[in-house]
Amino acid sequence: MRGTILVAYASRYGSTREVAERIADTLRECGYEVDCRDMREVRSIDDYRTVVLGAPFYYGRWPRTARHFLSRFGPGLAHRDVAVFATGHIAADKSADTRTQLDILLERNDWLRPFSSEIFGGRWDPAVLRGPQRMMLWFPASPLRALPPADLRDWPAIEKWARSVAESVKAGAAQPNPPNAGQQHSRSGASLSSIGEYIADQQRKELRP
Ligand SMILES: Cc1cc2nc3c(=O)[nH]c(=O)nc-3n(C[C@H](O)[C@H](O)[C@H](O)COP(=O)(O)O)c2cc1C
Repeated sequence: MRGTILVAYASRYGSTREVAERIADTLRECGYEVDCRDMREVRSIDDYRTVVLGAPFYYGRWPRTARHFLSRFGPGLAHRDVAVFATGHIAADKSADTRTQLDILLERNDWLRPFSSEIFGGRWDPAVLRGPQRMMLWFPASPLRALPPADLRDWPAIEKWARSVAESVKAGAAQPNPPNAGQQHSRSGASLSSIGEYIADQQRKELRP
């Protein structure tokens, strides 16, 4: 396993990709080699001991790409040092909602146990929306209709978090896992069979029309 850090992101309209790129740049400034990749392009995480995951919330969920990523690499992630960020709120007073959404996501994926998790404001530009997100604007009752375009990404806060991730890695968050003994357990203590059940459950859900 190399000391390179993987920053893997999902992004529909590019704002989370830009956050991931800033995090990757900051980690490089801290002296780390970093691969910054769209989750769809990641074929293996074998080379990485530390993985930073980031995705936006849409209606309280991560996009399918990000949920697939958790399914595909579940056991591998459970054996790595993981930090998680989410982009979300597009109104200044809504950051608590995004934090709650991330807490729920981490609770549902309790085998992941990130050593750090953070939320950042997102970008909202109704002009670029496509598909189902655009359709939401047609509903008169949609709260999105009243929102002016906004970019709530706080770059100093994003860089500060990236530096704190670098500090954690340096301080030893990235300890190799002990050799397997008896039943395999993830770093979080969850048995790999329970992670397998989780993945099977996710895959069943993904297969539903
Ligand atoms: C239709 C729609 C639904 C959204 N739902 C949520 C949500 O449930 N929680 C949240 O915190 N942010 C929500 N957002 C804000 C997005 O997470 C934010 O715009 C983010 O920056 C988008 O990232 P992307 O550009 O990488 O796709 C929503 C945005 C749209 C357009």
